[in-house]
Amino acid sequence: MHRIPTIKGKNVILRKVRESDIDDRFTIGRHHEFVHMCGGESIAQIEYPNREVWVEWYEGQKNAEYSWIIEYNGHCIGSAGFHHISDKDNSATYRIGIFDSNLHSKGIGTEVTKLLLGYGFTVCKWHRIDLKVLDYNLRGIRCYEKCGFKKEGILRESALIEGRYYSDIIMSILDFEFNSITTK
Ligand SMILES: CC(C)(COP(=O)(O)OP(=O)(O)OC[C@H]1O[C@@H](n2cnc3c(N)ncnc32)[C@H](O)[C@@H]1OP(=O)(O)O)[C@@H](O)C(=O)NCCC(=O)NCCS
Repeated sequence: MHRIPTIKGKNVILRKVRESDIDDRFTIGRHHEFVHMCGGESIAQIEYPNREVWVEWYEGQKNAEYSWIIEYNGHCIGSAGFHHISDKDNSATYRIGIFDSNLHSKGIGTEVTKLLLGYGFTVCKWHRIDLKVLDYNLRGIRCYEKCGFKKEGILRESALIEGRYYSDIIMSILDFEFNSITTK
């Protein structure tokens, strides 16, 4: 299993999940904004989970490769990482979620994304990192663009959410594009 390092930024620490994160995750719960932006169902259909759900979440995070907890002011507030890592194509897919919507639009997502792009391109030496984001997730798109991702295509009406079809946007960044941002 790939061992991830702890990465320290100005305001965040990115680290492996800990058992104490279960309580933070339980306290935050499921915010509608978070679920909606990830393509989940509306709050009426969200079952407020008991602590056991977050124990399972912890186990999943513990066993996930390339997965970091976002620690902010001493608490677990989100997670981010990579999946679909291809050794053949030298690429990976990025994901991020800040669970507490009170902490959105404060620059945390941008800081985390830039730190993990740095890890992906300079440590893992990937050539390409991509992601999928719902077209109505304007905050996410803006955050990714600020980090150097470019829109490269639309999966038309690819997501059925609450009885309506929405499109996903594919975004990507290549190693030399990241290097040109960091050397500016
Ligand atoms: C997407 C996410 C990771 C972004 O992180 P964040 O910390 O909220 O984002 P940042 O504050 O770094 O950047 C957001 C930018 O979008 C802008 N923004 C916020 N709402 C916006 C809107 N409705 N339309 C356009 N831009 C918007 C902000 O002003 C900011 O840009 P600026 O710095 O130029 O002012 C976070 O909001 C999140 O986890 N959301 C819920 C789950 C989710 O969407 N995950 C991603 C699924 S692909």
